[in-house]
Amino acid sequence: MAFIYDEPSHTFGEYLIIPGYSSCECVPSAVNLKTSVVKYRKGEEECPLTMNIPLVSAIMQSVSNDTMAIALAKEGGISFIYGSQSIESEARMVSNVKSYKAGFVVSDSNIRPDATLADILALKEKTGHSTVAVTEDGTAAGKLVGIVASRDYRVSRMSPDEKVSSFMTPIDKLVTGDENTTLKEANDIIWDNKLNSLPIVDKNGTLKYFVFRKDYSDHKANPLELLDSHKRYIVGAGINTRDYEERVPALVGAGADVLCIDSSEGFSEWQKKTLEWVRGKYGDSVKVGAGNVVDREGFLFLAESGADFVKVGIGGGSICITREQKGIGRGQATALIEVCKARDEYFERTGVYVPVCSDGGIVHDYHVTLALAMGADFIMLGRYFSRFDESPTNKLNINGSYVKEYWGEGSNRARNWQRYDLGGGAKLSFEEGVDSYVPYAGSLKDNVAQTLAKVRHTMCNCGALSIPELQQKAKLTLVSSTSIVEGGYHDVVLKDKGLSSAE
Ligand code: IMP
Repeated sequence: MAFIYDEPSHTFGEYLIIPGYSSCECVPSAVNLKTSVVKYRKGEEECPLTMNIPLVSAIMQSVSNDTMAIALAKEGGISFIYGSQSIESEARMVSNVKSYKAGFVVSDSNIRPDATLADILALKEKTGHSTVAVTEDGTAAGKLVGIVASRDYRVSRMSPDEKVSSFMTPIDKLVTGDENTTLKEANDIIWDNKLNSLPIVDKNGTLKYFVFRKDYSDHKANPLELLDSHKRYIVGAGINTRDYEERVPALVGAGADVLCIDSSEGFSEWQKKTLEWVRGKYGDSVKVGAGNVVDREGFLFLAESGADFVKVGIGGGSICITREQKGIGRGQATALIEVCKARDEYFERTGVYVPVCSDGGIVHDYHVTLALAMGADFIMLGRYFSRFDESPTNKLNINGSYVKEYWGEGSNRARNWQRYDLGGGAKLSFEEGVDSYVPYAGSLKDNVAQTLAKVRHTMCNCGALSIPELQQKAKLTLVSSTSIVEGGYHDVVLKDKGLSSAE
């Protein structure tokens, strides 16, 4: 007879945290959200890859491209670039992130020296930027011959036909940096010379970037940004159990810091083979997570197969219809609690700590704190990130409200058959995800700041200043359905809804 669990499985929304004692030192600004991403011998060595915040963005077309990866790394987390695209284009996205130099921007206002003041004014109107690079061919990658800034012309006193070459600041009067200039050095040059911008040119005099005075302050405004040893942003990438022999070398070559096998169900020989291949070719130098699993056995299987982290979650994603279609899955909270216990048991036995990622099903910000308290080292989110400016999808106005598109990897739109393939290959026989809209929510930076402010506050309520401390101290309780109702506002009429809805 089939094994039947005695207890039902539960979701995040069925749990609450019971506050513990907090001392005066326990303030949100003192909370450290640093967390480990890949396995290590805890107590004996440092974790080789950590994040400054416990959030990663989902391996999905509608979530994680290079723009998202840069924005999230600025805040201290990691994006996993989606794998349901050609190897070349995934590798290109990874290399775009790695070659992005924080604070170094490619000029978007460029003009030729024989253009006129009228052209400058039109360009300023179009781009909104007052610093214009004058290059021989008028492109962002042309030979720099000068710069025009607002102080170089007076519209009221000059003819609109006046040539740019006659009023620009020419190259021999400009201070420039070369390709080896670091952001810190660029900033020092800007301050020492009282500049607003510093052009960076290569040895042939070709314009490469601008560093702007204001961008350095932005850079300083991201104290948690996640950088590698060469000061490049850290980025992850999704792989599958089919074309890994070609995809992994391309992604590693492009500079991916961590990979993750993207699969709806990870307790499989396919994952073991993929992990073994990566270990055989690269040893421990390439980091690769695996999943998804929802129980102890699944975790132990992947940990023993060599996974650097294990991802938990089947059927809980907001766009997911796997449970309806196939009847597989488990309440995310129950799955996570069981897997985290297995992780601790594995650590006791082997001395190796394999981080756990809770994937999918985060609806409210406090679910992040719950997942951490239940033992997750970090959380993967799809819907959450899809709502921001930085996600790759269209922003639309539907009936007066702004929305963004968000679709599942198992939907007909994404057709990520490798994620769902059980050996049939090269097609999706039925959908496991939907195509949807989510309310547009603005910038990643503002939203992540608010979410993490809540996480930090709740951690203080538990007397915890770090994630491991939260996991040790947190007390969780299941709540009844009546007390869930009690948790929202109740028995009052919201002013903006009007009294007519009071009856
Ligand atoms: P969300 O944060 O609740 O939106 O869940 C995102 C997670 O759902 C992803 O990280 C995947 O694990 C999972 N997922 C993505 N696409 C699909 C799909 O089409 N069907 C089922 N699960 C999906």
